[in-house]
Amino acid sequence: MIFERIRKNRLLKQIDPHHLPQHVAIIMDGNGRWAKMRGLPRTAGHHEGGKSLVRVLLACHELGIKALTVYAFSTENWKRPKEEVDYLMQLPGQYIDRYLPMVKEHNIKMNFIGHLDQLSDELQEHIRRAQEETRENTGLIFTIALNYGARSEILEAIKALIKKANEDAIDVESIDEGLFEQHLMTAGLPPIDLMIRTSGEVRLSNFLLWQLAYTELYFTKVKWPDFHEYEFYRAIIDYQQRHRRYGGL
Ligand code: FPP
Repeated sequence: MIFERIRKNRLLKQIDPHHLPQHVAIIMDGNGRWAKMRGLPRTAGHHEGGKSLVRVLLACHELGIKALTVYAFSTENWKRPKEEVDYLMQLPGQYIDRYLPMVKEHNIKMNFIGHLDQLSDELQEHIRRAQEETRENTGLIFTIALNYGARSEILEAIKALIKKANEDAIDVESIDEGLFEQHLMTAGLPPIDLMIRTSGEVRLSNFLLWQLAYTELYFTKVKWPDFHEYEFYRAIIDYQQRHRRYGGL
């Protein structure tokens, strides 16, 4: 414990508070492998993964990061065994029940993206409550992607724009990047500066494909349940050493 605190403080000192990423996105990967290595069921990995999420959320809040977006369930994750899907589907509700008071105390605003209408009524009710009770909060915007897939998000945006054009509500020539972004599920969120993926996999897996176009990517072999605050600080320090050129020189 004491060594963990020393390590944390040493890394914290290296972070420049004036050069923080505004918006961090995370693919929380490696829960299943973490559990398997310990002879535990995959659900135990997700259970531990939930604890990492709370730690990282608080670390973002303490640093003053404006937005955190995490991939909790993809449109492809339904292919997993029923027992695992059921577990993953009740986890957000369980966390909302337990942590909503803490989230409200920290002025965090909760937001959900994805095809939420396909989730159970019970989970939709938890989501509604979390969003409703934190609507006025002005601190960190915490977005959870549930039943989310970037390709279908982009298609939905295109369909919405075509519909508006057909109804003469917009002129096709007026469709630019700004207008397109307003039709994505992330409308209103700041641009994503840093995307972290844990567990050694180096791919985007249909996560925020449009939004990540100029994002700095950070991949670590650490599995999500082992991703402590100091691992998060390492990612921020790495980000701060990069020189973003956006295609310029
Ligand atoms: C990927 O690891 C992880 C997931 C599909 C689920 C992520 C969910 C959590 C971290 C739980 C917390 C969520 C909330 C909203 C409380 P994997 O299962 O694909 O791992 P593997 O690649 O090792 O099999």
